[in-house]
This record gives sequence, structure tokens and C-alpha cells, in this order.
Amino acid sequence: MTNTDWTSIRDRFLEAQKGMEQEVVDSPASLEQFRIKYLGTKGILKDLSGYLKEIPVENRKEAGKLLNQIKQKTESLFQQYQQTYSSAGKASKAEIDLSAPGYPLPLGSRHPVSLVMNQVIDIFKRIGFTIAEDREIEDDWHNFTALNTPDDHPARDMQDTFYIKDSIQYLLRTHTSPVQARVMTREKPPIRIIAPGRVYRNETVSARSHCQFHQVEGLYIDEGVSFADMKQTLLYYAREQYGPEVKIRLRPSFFPFTEPSAEMDVYYGLADETAHRITKGTGWLEILGCGMVDPAVLVNCGIDPDKYSGFAFGMGIERQVLLKYNVPDIRMLFENDVRFLRQFSAI
Ligand code: DAH
Repeated sequence: MTNTDWTSIRDRFLEAQKGMEQEVVDSPASLEQFRIKYLGTKGILKDLSGYLKEIPVENRKEAGKLLNQIKQKTESLFQQYQQTYSSAGKASKAEIDLSAPGYPLPLGSRHPVSLVMNQVIDIFKRIGFTIAEDREIEDDWHNFTALNTPDDHPARDMQDTFYIKDSIQYLLRTHTSPVQARVMTREKPPIRIIAPGRVYRNETVSARSHCQFHQVEGLYIDEGVSFADMKQTLLYYAREQYGPEVKIRLRPSFFPFTEPSAEMDVYYGLADETAHRITKGTGWLEILGCGMVDPAVLVNCGIDPDKYSGFAFGMGIERQVLLKYNVPDIRMLFENDVRFLRQFSAI
């Protein structure tokens, strides 16, 4: 093989291109002929490709390039003709119904935890509570000390709390109560806030509890706030959330930062096995802790306990999701299985 060979082959390439460009295509039949002649499996382009291996190595690059150009031209011409002459193309154009409704885009749904959280926020907003959000990595003072939690309280144990590596100062907040301390040190009464957010505890994961969950904290400080105000506020909440017939009960309890303290249960019932398991056989589900803010906490945060009093509460969200939507196991809320999540509404 010599260069002369390449020159003559190149002539053949160019001739084929010229011929292709001059083809008359003016009907579906001639379009099909064009396709077979140039683009078919035994067509001219295939033929030309066959020459490539005969061309001397030094010319092969140039030849490949030329061949590619011809191919592209043929294909684009074919597509142009196709738009005008293809019977299939014409038919499908005519069938486009511009008035047909579009396909709906798949819409995600809200996570049930967000749903309940937003409901809680809405309910308290209506009676004048504003939202205070704060950090999830807290310091020991706001999470424990300011809230009157003694040094030897079990909650401070590594067994119960996730500390940040190599530090006993910083931890993943174990409740939303530190937001109380942050707001009280920053603002003057009257204070009326709710603080929604994620909290963490070093707990064994089971159907009823998880190592991460959500709480909404509430705090109301003003002159002359009483336990009765608290009870009425919580009853209002329960009725708004679970309907006017809801049954609640306040049980005496203990929290270092409130005095007196209580826990509130909502009646879940004992209709089935799940109800027995979730309520430990009592029919009641505890949804929040509450109490009158301990004067020592007010002092820690720079508020005069002789002038002001107030109540606080902290509610778990996951428990209420179980209650409201009849979910049998808290772990389902963290698995992100779309078959589960899809069942909840988008708003
Ligand atoms: N922080 C408590 C907990 O996580 C809940 C709680 C109880 C919050 C009483 C409060 C309160 O504000 O007054 O278990």
C-alpha cells in the first residue's frame, strides 16, 4: 500500500458524499431507499468503513475523521428528510393533544414526626407562644447545671448521655430544656416560647424508645403564673391535638428543674396487643413532663424569683406519632422505608 492508495480511496469517500448529498428524497418511499442505500447494514457507509483497515497507518487518522464527517452529514440529512417525509413521524405529530393534562410529578410526603411537630407548633402559636430554636451540641452548664441537675445525677453519666469525644464539657443535648436556660439568660419576662428540636440519649433502642428523638419544650414566665395556668394550657393542647373528648391525667413526678413536677398521660386504650405493649398494659401513654420552674433555675438564669414565676413542659414527639397514627414501633420512624413514609400526607 502507498499513499496513492489513500488518495484514491479519499476520492471514493468524497464521491460517495457528493452522491449522497444529491439524492432526491421527496416521499416516504424514497426516504426508505435513502436509508437502505446509505445507512443500511449493507449500505455505502458500511462499505466505506471496510476500507479503513486497508489504508496505511499514517493516513488512518485522517481517513477516520473524514468518514465520521460523512456519517454525521448522512445522519443529519436523513433526520431532516424524516421530519418531512416519514409517515410515522407525521402521524405521531398529528396525534399530540396539546389540551391533554400533564403527568403529575410525584410529590413526597411529610415525615410523620414533622407532621406532629408542626401541629404542636401551630397549636401553641395560636395562644401566643413563639418559637425558639437552639443548638444540638450543648454545654454541660445549659443542659444540666443551670437546670439544677446535681453533679451525681444519673443523667450525667456516660451511660445515659453522648459526650463529644475527649470532652466532658460538650454533649449532644439530652432534652430541649437547655433552650429554657438560653432564653431566660437572654430575655426578660414575660417569656412565652416553645422550642422544638432533636435530642439524644444513650439508650437501648426498642419499640418504645430510641437513642435520638424529638421534643418540644414550652416555657412561660411572667408575674403570677400558677399551676392552674399550666394545667389549663396543657388541657387546651391535648384537646386541640386529640379532640375534645380526650382523656388526660397529671401524675406527680420529679424533675430537678421544676417544683412541683408532673407527668401528663393521654389515654390510648387497650384495644389490641399493640396498645398493651405501647402503654405497658395501662392504656395510658406518657407524652410530657412539666412543672413550675424551680426558683433556683430562675436565679441561675438571672430572673428574680420573688417577682416572677412560670411553668415549663417538655413533650416527646415520637410517642405522640405512635398514638396519633397508630404506629406500632418507634423504630419505623427512623428506618426511612418509603412504603411506610408514603402513607402520610404532604401537608
Ligand atoms: N426535660 C424533661 C425530659 O426530657 C422533660 C421536662 C420535664 C421538661 C419537665 C420540662 C419540664 O420543661 O418542666 O424528660
